[in-house]
Amino acid sequence: MTAFDTAEITRRLRAAGCVFAEEETRLLREAAASDAELAGLLDRRVAGTPLEHLLGWVRFRGLRIGVRDGVFVPRQRSALLVDEALELAAAHPVRTVVDLCCGSGALGLALLTGLGRRPVELVAADIDPVAVACARDNLAAVGGRVHQGDLFDALPEELRGRIDILLANTPYVPSGLIARLPPEARDHEPQVALDGGPDGLALARRTAAAAAGWLAPGGSLLIEIGVDQMPAARELLTTGGLTARIVRSPDLDATVAVGCRPTATSGR
Ligand SMILES: C[S@@+](CC[C@H](N)C(=O)[O-])C[C@H]1O[C@@H](n2cnc3c(N)ncnc32)[C@H](O)[C@@H]1O
Repeated sequence: MTAFDTAEITRRLRAAGCVFAEEETRLLREAAASDAELAGLLDRRVAGTPLEHLLGWVRFRGLRIGVRDGVFVPRQRSALLVDEALELAAAHPVRTVVDLCCGSGALGLALLTGLGRRPVELVAADIDPVAVACARDNLAAVGGRVHQGDLFDALPEELRGRIDILLANTPYVPSGLIARLPPEARDHEPQVALDGGPDGLALARRTAAAAAGWLAPGGSLLIEIGVDQMPAARELLTTGGLTARIVRSPDLDATVAVGCRPTATSGR
């Protein structure tokens, strides 16, 4: 048995706690151009580097999204944000989509893809220059523009009052719980992508407070939250002048807070 025997690779991955060890073995084999490269990838994976950072991509809602070292790996649960945005788009015309806190840009790209042939302007933004560079790569093919900066400060003024769908997967782990995250996240994803402040909702609160000024009438803000953050998220949306509802998918173990800017005719 050589060091690169498939069964031995799978055994090492399983011993390191990789649940889908067979699948990971196949993907690492495909990714490596030589035995030496495979050995290096395997060592890094066993030491805890996320598989997606080793491969340089993740599959999200059927799309292959580029993810580079230091960029938050899109989670499958975030498909709920995209599904919910597509539901909203069926009832309300969508011309402008913003993916705030975009990371790799996976959410915006998946939404644009789901909207099909409709002409939609996609703008994304993130505070982290590594994420911005990654999103620029991913969104170039669909003409998405990516800006760097703190929340809405990054956006061009001409978007004010025009955003139909505002996706915001803001970091939502309470600061005190970061230490309890799995090492893959804690040690390999930037703190700025995870840490949501004392109650996990610091960024969500700031986003909700400013969103009404950026949304078009009838436009919606969608924020991913933790299941125990539902009452607080509802409150921060209503405080921001939005009508609030919570969507929960037990299958995806995902929770999304949706805030809609009322139209002028609905009484505001
Ligand atoms: C949980 S990750 C989500 C990334 C991506 N939307 C996804 O779902 O894969 C949060 C992202 O928010 C970004 N971020 C954190 N604080 C920010 C801020 N003040 N302004 C803009 N982006 C911020 C981080 O750099 C990170 O990319």
